[in-house]
Amino acid sequence: MKILVTGGLGFIGSHTCVELAKEDNEVIIVDNLYNSKEEVLEKIEKISGKKFKLYKYDLKDKEKIKKVFEEEKNIEAVIHFAGYKAVGESVKKPLMYYSNNIITTTNLLEIMHEYNVKKFVFSSSATVYGEQETPKYVETMKRGETTSPYGTTKAMIEKILEDLYFSDNSWNISILRYFNPVGAHESGLIGEEPNGIPNNLMPYIMKVASGKLETLSIFGNDYPTPDGTGVRDYIHVVDLAKGHVQALKKMKQGLKVYNLGSGKGVSVLELVTTFEKVNNIKLNYKIAQRRPGDLPEYFADSQKALKELDWKTEKTIEDICRDAWNYEKNNA
Ligand code: UFG
Repeated sequence: MKILVTGGLGFIGSHTCVELAKEDNEVIIVDNLYNSKEEVLEKIEKISGKKFKLYKYDLKDKEKIKKVFEEEKNIEAVIHFAGYKAVGESVKKPLMYYSNNIITTTNLLEIMHEYNVKKFVFSSSATVYGEQETPKYVETMKRGETTSPYGTTKAMIEKILEDLYFSDNSWNISILRYFNPVGAHESGLIGEEPNGIPNNLMPYIMKVASGKLETLSIFGNDYPTPDGTGVRDYIHVVDLAKGHVQALKKMKQGLKVYNLGSGKGVSVLELVTTFEKVNNIKLNYKIAQRRPGDLPEYFADSQKALKELDWKTEKTIEDICRDAWNYEKNNA
């Protein structure tokens, strides 16, 4: 299959390109390098032993994106990762998030419509559930109140895709709701590289472990969870990448929504102690105030992806901690 991947040099995109190439798909990447590096291209080529075509274009530039569809001719499907993703930044710069994430997506969908490419996989997030009555989130639940403009862009795009499908049911759309993607490729060549001081837990742990930051703050130990710290569903990025391959393989006509998570909640303290044990490193941490907007606990109901996509996570929290640290050491 010839597949266009937007944001293919980013954290999740790069791992997905590797898994797609492994299955002999032809992968075309569009990435404007806003939040990624061109050298990732050589790395994914090295890991997979395959070549990727890169267009350094911005999805806001409709004419250029049309050129890609024109030149490539027989693109069959699009996986859309590209977008701004920093929760905190989106609170400060909502217009930047709404204008970029929404316009780039509608541009892409319009061009796909024009070229009659109607298979679309969208990177959504568990954040669209907002707060629910139970911590186990299932796809039949209604989307909830999002807690950041970033999250709202994900919910809005889901809605746009529903309206699009309603208007033309020849589309095949899979919305993938990621829980907490972490870890790195076991080769140590590709992984997560946030700009500046990380906001997310795993990247922050990396910086403390490598001595670049002094102390990890655990945001709250008085939540109604077994050890009082926040509980999330951490998913190894390679498992997540494989979920995209399955979503394309099993794609049928219609609009489908899938949770991609392990189905298991892990607390901040559990992640910290597992990291220490697996890598034999002592992490400097302290208990701090709760972070505004954080929920105590949520994790995926992962049954639908298992049943319909024949997909489940295979890697453990230990694998996550080992691979993330391996990448950090190789790239420090
Ligand atoms: N945490 C800490 N210390 C830190 C960072 C995080 O204790 O320095 C805790 C948080 O309080 C939370 C857990 O670690 O309990 C996970 O936090 P992350 O920031 O790593 O991840 P979130 O669950 O907050 O973020 C995820 C996705 C976002 C999404 C968001 C919406 O990464 O893309 O959920 O809730 F938008």
